[in-house]
Amino acid sequence: MSEMGFLPDWLDLREPVDHAARDPSLLARAAECVGAGKAVLDLGSGTGSTARAFKGTVPDDAWHFLDTDEKLLHVAARRHPGSQQIRFNLRNVDALPLDGAGLVTASALLDLMPISWIEGLAKRLYAAGLPLYAALNYNGHMSWTPSLPDDAKITSSFNIHQLRDKGIGRATGPHAASEAQRVFKEHGFDVVTGDSPWELGAGQAALHAELLLGIRNAAAEVGCETADIWLDDRRAILANSTASIGHTDLLAIPR
Ligand SMILES: C[S@@+](CC[C@H](N)C(=O)[O-])C[C@H]1O[C@@H](n2cnc3c(N)ncnc32)[C@H](O)[C@@H]1O
Repeated sequence: MSEMGFLPDWLDLREPVDHAARDPSLLARAAECVGAGKAVLDLGSGTGSTARAFKGTVPDDAWHFLDTDEKLLHVAARRHPGSQQIRFNLRNVDALPLDGAGLVTASALLDLMPISWIEGLAKRLYAAGLPLYAALNYNGHMSWTPSLPDDAKITSSFNIHQLRDKGIGRATGPHAASEAQRVFKEHGFDVVTGDSPWELGAGQAALHAELLLGIRNAAAEVGCETADIWLDDRRAILANSTASIGHTDLLAIPR
């Protein structure tokens, strides 16, 4: 789900649904982890959606936005005056700039990453004594009302596509949160998770329509021959459909 495009328009389209989806208790506990005078390092920050989800509990000048995409970092700088922007490729997990941070955050990121990277992150954060709040990890569950006979087949093809290498190695895709939970526990963290599904109804028709196209494209790319028919059928009933797209939030605190 995280790979469907990193254009500001797509990120803006999903932001209200992302914010409604986040598990509120994990978000509140994450905000409590930031000590006075400490920074929050937001990995794969995009335009700074995680900072906005914190709703002012952490001031703009405490945010360090880290991303490879210069254009997204410019938008983040404009939206959060006083924040810092760090152009950095997460491939270099051993060189992550953790100095001054009290919390590391990410959203819609872990499912893009390979298991070796998640292990590297857990090692770095444990050595630095830092907690991780990683929200909105796609977890492989998608359902619609009304359902169609091919929903499960399309979901299964989409989930295979999600495992493709996004530049650092084979992605964890729908297994991101469960794998991160296991890895962080093994590396000395207490881990709590919470469900954060996207709930799409009539008010989210634009996002739902974009999502259907993205799902169709991914399923077709891995050889699903009925992806076009499924898309046509879903579009025909879109105005009267709801969708639930599973995500999992995770908070890992070093023991
Ligand atoms: C799905 S977007 C999520 C953006 C933001 N966290 C949000 O929730 O709106 C994933 C972000 O990760 C960034 N990203 C992907 N691979 C990266 C890498 N190797 N190094 C740094 N950033 C990366 C992308 O540029 C993009 O901004």
